[in-house]
Amino acid sequence: MESTRRKLIDLLSRYPDEFVSGQVLSEQLNITRSAIWKHMKELEKDGYVIQSVPRKGYRILKNPDKLSANTIQWGLSTNWLGSRVIFEKTTDSTQVIAHHLGREGAQHGTVVVADEQVKGRGRLNRTWYSKKGDGIWMSLILRPEVEPQQAPQLTLLSAVAIVEALEEITDLAFYIKWPNDIYVHDHKIAGILTEMQAEQDQINYIVQGIGLNVNQNREDFNMISDNEPTSLKIETGMAWNRRPLIQVILQQIERLYERYLKEGFLPIKTMWEERAYRLGQPIMVSSKNQNWQGIFKGIDQDGALIVTDQKGRDHVLYSAEINWRSGGHE
Ligand code: BTN
Repeated sequence: MESTRRKLIDLLSRYPDEFVSGQVLSEQLNITRSAIWKHMKELEKDGYVIQSVPRKGYRILKNPDKLSANTIQWGLSTNWLGSRVIFEKTTDSTQVIAHHLGREGAQHGTVVVADEQVKGRGRLNRTWYSKKGDGIWMSLILRPEVEPQQAPQLTLLSAVAIVEALEEITDLAFYIKWPNDIYVHDHKIAGILTEMQAEQDQINYIVQGIGLNVNQNREDFNMISDNEPTSLKIETGMAWNRRPLIQVILQQIERLYERYLKEGFLPIKTMWEERAYRLGQPIMVSSKNQNWQGIFKGIDQDGALIVTDQKGRDHVLYSAEINWRSGGHE
């Protein structure tokens, strides 16, 4: 039933300006014309506006803004990422649901999306503000056949994919601030939280949480003190429909993931470095109670930060406080 409806949308979306006759639809989908009509009524309930003209057929006038498992899947051109979508209007955190599903054996590529999270969480135990309808709050369940040490590579991969998706739909330039914050005009717009369940040499599953600020206004961020986040609406001056955005992000992640499986991490690392925030510039590093200035050189195979000190020696840092803006002068 669900997959018939999905095929129906795919067929109609292929000819956006034309009518597709009931007969063609019924032949292609192998169902009766009255069944087609019933599906159209269901689509309207999901927010589609469908024009139906006798002897001409059907066409979609408007896609729904509303998020649901169905609307996310219709028109999604991935092979496995999002083949199962779980949508919640409100939840504590999509991470919690995804972990639960992961433990129960949910398939690789399952996606959990929420309209609102009341206990959204970020890296380093920070709170992630996830107000209703304002952003994309989703968690992906991945079961990659790679070593647990390689898991950070998948976070870097998704960061690149999100930047590619955002640059596909806007005219803005986005950057990745190590390890995986997405920045635009010096403000954070998205973050990734990767959590893994693994044995010593085998990944059981990964839950990758993605938070993207979409329709918040500047006032919505007043209560957040650190690093003044931004949203797509603040940066572009217009509100965005989240459904196509989610689709483009999933498509880009799947595309890069397939490339990663075929070609390894090197192309992803290169793409990451091309989009790295302040690459080649001075930064202040605080590690092991020492502060020193260095040049941000790049990342290594594990996604660790490489910083060159003033004597020209490279340091590989897995975790450190970085003062990105200072370069030792502020
Ligand atoms: C960060 O930059 O600190 C990571 C933010 C990750 C937020 C997302 S929103 C969907 C998923 N559910 C959560 O509770 N967190 C992640």
